Amino acid sequence: MSGELLLWLLALCVLLTVVVQLVRFLRADGDLTLLWAEWQGRRPEWELTDMVVWVTGASGGIGEELAYQLSKLGVSLVLSARRVHELERVKRRCLENGNLKEKDILVLPLDLTDRSSHEMATKAVLQEFGKIDILVNNGGRSQRSLVVDASLDVYKELIELNYLGTVSLTKCVLPHMIERKQGKIVTVNSVLGIIGAPLSSGYCASKHALRGFFNGLRTELATYPGIIISNICPGPVQSNIVHNALTEEVTKAVGNGGDQSYKMATSRCVRLMLVSMANDLKEVWIADQPFLSMTYLWQYMPTWAWWITNKVGKKRIENFKSGVEADAYFKSWRAKHD
Ligand SMILES: NC(=O)c1ccc[n+]([C@@H]2O[C@H](COP(=O)([O-])OP(=O)(O)OC[C@H]3O[C@@H](n4cnc5c(N)ncnc54)[C@H](OP(=O)(O)O)[C@@H]3O)[C@@H](O)[C@H]2O)c1
Repeated sequence: MSGELLLWLLALCVLLTVVVQLVRFLRADGDLTLLWAEWQGRRPEWELTDMVVWVTGASGGIGEELAYQLSKLGVSLVLSARRVHELERVKRRCLENGNLKEKDILVLPLDLTDRSSHEMATKAVLQEFGKIDILVNNGGRSQRSLVVDASLDVYKELIELNYLGTVSLTKCVLPHMIERKQGKIVTVNSVLGIIGAPLSSGYCASKHALRGFFNGLRTELATYPGIIISNICPGPVQSNIVHNALTEEVTKAVGNGGDQSYKMATSRCVRLMLVSMANDLKEVWIADQPFLSMTYLWQYMPTWAWWITNKVGKKRIENFKSGVEADAYFKSWRAKHD
């Protein structure tokens, strides 16, 4: 075979590899490290058994699904949120469908904004199970309002709940993990902790703050390699987040969360969260396209990202002003591309 032909064959192989990888990326629903870990890494079924896992925001959405998937792995569960009857419902379903017994699940009511209660809550978990292996900081609320219309109280509430509430609980659990030299603090952040979006300025701010806090904390824990600080950044996922979002006033609810069916299935998001926990990943992005590509763009090519976000953002605001769910235009985008 001539040298020239060999070179052509080599170039063809490279081109094919690039095309295959591009197609794989266009179909990806997580960042490349996470998907590699899902394919080749440790499985949650091997790694996360016999652990004590405390989940905040366990009364609905992502936290509820997390409780169900964890209960199948044989962990001891602490379920926290404000609505006790919803936590009891989640507990019952965990017992019906999981591998746990009554003694393995503690329902622990908790308001993240009531910071004075966090120390007692931590003591209650330690009294019940003797240790905390994983704290999942999941409880939180989103926002649907423009900066010009939103009262300052809305911004205060988002920082109190999403940021300070999470920091406060983490500070209560951390000394215990430092004493044991092990543990995982897993925080459900958002792609909006990396990128910006209209109608969610206060939510973005709270999630950016959380990412900064946990990235800073991780650097302080360099001498404790057994303590893993993990930021989980999902894109749109099916849950009650829009229904429960803050609006222009703290007392005014969104009411109708609209159609959520075009968003990522909660079960898929949670499965990838478990993969991340099993593989001790420090930050993961869990999002369907085009949100995944947008996150890569914001991280690596911010000028392009601004240009596209401004175009998409206009549509988001138009939808919102006409009473349609802000992200509804992605429904038709997905219908075209799926
Ligand atoms: N769904 C998405 O598209 C998406 C995308 C990116 C990130 N996230 C993040 O995922 C996490 C879970 O949200 P979700 O989508 O599952 O929304 P969700 O269905 O509205 O659930 C939110 C959970 O947070 C709890 N919560 C709210 N206020 C609380 C408070 N003051 N104290 C304690 N718990 C409180 C709620 O329980 P109670 O009302 O009973 O207290 C509920 O269990 C949030 O941190 C959110 O920012 C969601």
